[in-house]
Amino acid sequence: MSRIVLGVTGGVAAYKAVMLASRLRQSGYDVDVVLTPAAEAFVTPLSFSAVTGRRAYTDRDLFAAEGPILHVALAQTDLVIVAPASADFLAKAAHGIAGDLLGTLLLAAAGKVLLCPAMEDDMWRHPATQRAVRQLRADGRTVLDPAAGHLASGRSGVGRLPEPEEILAQALRMLRAQTLGGARVLVTAGPTREYIDPVRFISNPSTGRMGIAVAEAARDAGAAVTLVLGPSELPAPQGIEVLDVTSAAEMYAAVESRFRDCDAFVATAAVADLRPRERLGRKIKKADLGMELPMERTTDILAWAGSVRTSRQVLVGFAAETGDVPAQARKKLMEKHCDMVVGNDIGEPGAGFAADTNRCLFVTGEGEQEVGPASKRQIGEEIIAFVAERLRGR
Ligand code: CTP
Repeated sequence: MSRIVLGVTGGVAAYKAVMLASRLRQSGYDVDVVLTPAAEAFVTPLSFSAVTGRRAYTDRDLFAAEGPILHVALAQTDLVIVAPASADFLAKAAHGIAGDLLGTLLLAAAGKVLLCPAMEDDMWRHPATQRAVRQLRADGRTVLDPAAGHLASGRSGVGRLPEPEEILAQALRMLRAQTLGGARVLVTAGPTREYIDPVRFISNPSTGRMGIAVAEAARDAGAAVTLVLGPSELPAPQGIEVLDVTSAAEMYAAVESRFRDCDAFVATAAVADLRPRERLGRKIKKADLGMELPMERTTDILAWAGSVRTSRQVLVGFAAETGDVPAQARKKLMEKHCDMVVGNDIGEPGAGFAADTNRCLFVTGEGEQEVGPASKRQIGEEIIAFVAERLRGR
């Protein structure tokens, strides 16, 4: 079973780190806790050793002259979590400043790093902190956004340490087996916009949430992920290459340029099937608007991929339906040469466009399986589990 390092920095939320250490221990991990001097002003090493059953380390240990070099030995772990991560800690970590045990350990960290900031909201919003967070993310660290709510000052705002359960869930995701290690996954998501003139377009209510969930699940399973994303209000996912597109033609061009190099393609996008035959460069005046709009078909991106795919590639499509979902999904499975089609009934509450949850039918050549109701993230993970299993067999 693996060992996790939990770094604790100075902040009122340090007491929650004791609960987190306890939950990590209950999940079966050996937890080595490292406290900064500021953390010791809030909690003691004893609080942690009591729940982890192991000694907790402080800077005094860094300078003790016994055994292997402590920070290097501690750094040989799959995951380092820092919770709470103070503004001071983030600023130093972004610059690689290694003046204490936790700082040196972080530079030597062999595995993943999960940072969980907690501070007053104005400190969190400060450009210096935001700069540090951007830098840390660019360096490949996972930085959670703090939660909104009651802060130590008595005010409310964004800056609370996420609940230990939430940090635990993220940690477990990061530790999950890398079932797609080395694989390249291409995902389409969101709606497309087909412009009539500069102020009018044809589109649909897709938010991109399902595709982002698939892309994140693939990333967490170790894949290199490219997400071709139509117009979406959602924040760009971390650690994923995002190609922003607007129209079906742009989405097709982006997929075409990447498809040959991918091991798996998951098409979640709600691509417009038709576009205006002509896009005018100037706004059409109301008086000049006709009652008819000449249209033409867009390329069916998934069907194109199905027609050029190799037998080593895995293709997953979606079928958003209001009618006979199983029959429609089976039809699309055959017609678009997919390994699986995820059917969902968009007429049902809690499924389809813009919902947080989804209820699906996974249809493959071997049969059908109902999945959910579950969060889109969970559905994304099920899809990725299917992709990983298929890739293993090829
Ligand atoms: N799709 C695509 N490019 C298109 C249209 C659809 O890649 N131009 C993909 C979607 O991303 C989805 C699947 O095809 O994975 C099914 O899309 P859907 O709109 O449900 O089906 P259509 O093929 O358009 O069929 P119909 O409208 O007849 O249901």
